[in-house]
Amino acid sequence: MGNKEKKPFWLTILAIIALSLVVAACGQNNAGDATQGGEVTQPATEEPAAEEPAPTNLLETIKASGKLRLGTSADYPPYEFHKIIDGKDTIIGFDIEIAKEIAADLGVELVITDMGFDGLLTALQSGNIDMVVAGMTPTPERAEAVDFSDVYYTAIQKVIVRAADQATYTTIESLAGKKVGAQLGAIQEGVVTDQMPNSELRALSKLPDLILDLKAGNVEAVVVEEPVAKAYIAANPELVFADIKLEQDEAGSAIALPKGSAELVEAVNATLARLKQEGKIDQFVTDATNAME
Ligand code: ARG
Repeated sequence: MGNKEKKPFWLTILAIIALSLVVAACGQNNAGDATQGGEVTQPATEEPAAEEPAPTNLLETIKASGKLRLGTSADYPPYEFHKIIDGKDTIIGFDIEIAKEIAADLGVELVITDMGFDGLLTALQSGNIDMVVAGMTPTPERAEAVDFSDVYYTAIQKVIVRAADQATYTTIESLAGKKVGAQLGAIQEGVVTDQMPNSELRALSKLPDLILDLKAGNVEAVVVEEPVAKAYIAANPELVFADIKLEQDEAGSAIALPKGSAELVEAVNATLARLKQEGKIDQFVTDATNAME
């Protein structure tokens, strides 16, 4: 019978149709997130089921994701720095302890990304991180691009020189015509250009590179916040504080958050207020200072 010969052909067509349906269903299942298992009964265009309301602001988004993404520049002891703990490269410091407390208060996990200080605000603005805790000073220029928490710590600016040159570089004038280092994108760049107009600024992304330059004689001095200067001097006996007084030398540190994240700013400030009240920030600074080599 001719009929018999055609049957396999129709079966093939049916099989192809069935197969493409299954493939299409799988595709939908992979692309969507609301369906489970083989339950693909909704057309692709239908709106997802409204079980969980979409997060309305960054604070809610962070809570829903279960993660707080911290950006920092871990070249700034005792604020944030690398230390081998139990054979593992770990980022610690008082900024990190503060960030951990914020994450704990939000009930989420802290995820740390280490980068150059000059890349932090861009990363925050592009949504790659949720907050910056990096000894960052809330300047009016930065405040145009991001929101800032309350100030949680204040330090003064210092100049580091080689011990052998301590008697040579005693004034700002003595550094005229000399190269002075500052971290790229940091307010210390402005300290050099504003207060040492006759010196030549050398700005690098990572502070350890500037310290190497100073030790190698490629720069004559480096401007940095006092606690950090102390840390690098302690680790490098050939470096000392210069006896140079800078003006307008106080700089506060605050936490940077994306522009317009009022709820998150409020939550961060609540944690900072609690830590201040409990004397924890001083404790974190002491602990971090003790943890430095
Ligand atoms: N306070 C200075 C600023 O905001 C320097 C901060 C540098 N921080 C760092 N983690 N390297 O510009």
